[in-house]
Amino acid sequence: MTQKERFGKLFTENKLIMMRLILICAMLIPSVMMAQTKAKVVTKTPAGKTKTSTSSTTAGSTSKEKGKTIYQTYCLVCHQADGGGVPRMNPPFVKEWVGGDKSRLVRLLLKGSNGKVEIDGDKFSNTMPPQPTFTDQQIADVLTFVRSSFGFKASAITATEVKTIRAKTK
Ligand code: HEC
Repeated sequence: MTQKERFGKLFTENKLIMMRLILICAMLIPSVMMAQTKAKVVTKTPAGKTKTSTSSTTAGSTSKEKGKTIYQTYCLVCHQADGGGVPRMNPPFVKEWVGGDKSRLVRLLLKGSNGKVEIDGDKFSNTMPPQPTFTDQQIADVLTFVRSSFGFKASAITATEVKTIRAKTK
């Protein structure tokens, strides 16, 4: 085998390997892209202030799942990961409120609250901030999450219900 022949053989062999690598890459690209779009959708949800960003249901993401992301972004800091709150500052979630009247819950999120909530005679020094920029879907999602987490089993709240309550609240 001459030097030239050896080079030629090496080249064709490497070419085969290269082609295989390219093929594998080509096969991987769609799945990587899909994973990226999925991640984008998830991170976009809580910050999305426009109606369109959250009103459409993303495949594989339920109202409760989206609500969990919103909870982690906007509520966890005060009500804590287990919904237990912080003594004398932020109330723990209680069935009376969380599992109670939907209108009262939606109004609480839209208007916030300061000193109106009393649980077993306890008052809470912190202020629950209003979330007027939340879309109907975002309010529905986060309340649906809270109502079906932390041991609660209350019914879901829909964006349509929030819309009706919001219209009456203004
Ligand atoms: C800055 C802290 C803070 C944040 C953030 C906050 N809350 Fe609250 N939350 C409070 C306080 C304080 C009260 C009691 C208000 C009062 O005393 O009138 C309260 C009351 C509540 C209640 C009724 C009482 C109970 O514990 O069952 C619910 C339900 C609730 N918050 C849900 C939420 C949800 C959902 C979010 C996120 C969108 C949120 N909160 C964000 C501080 C906060």
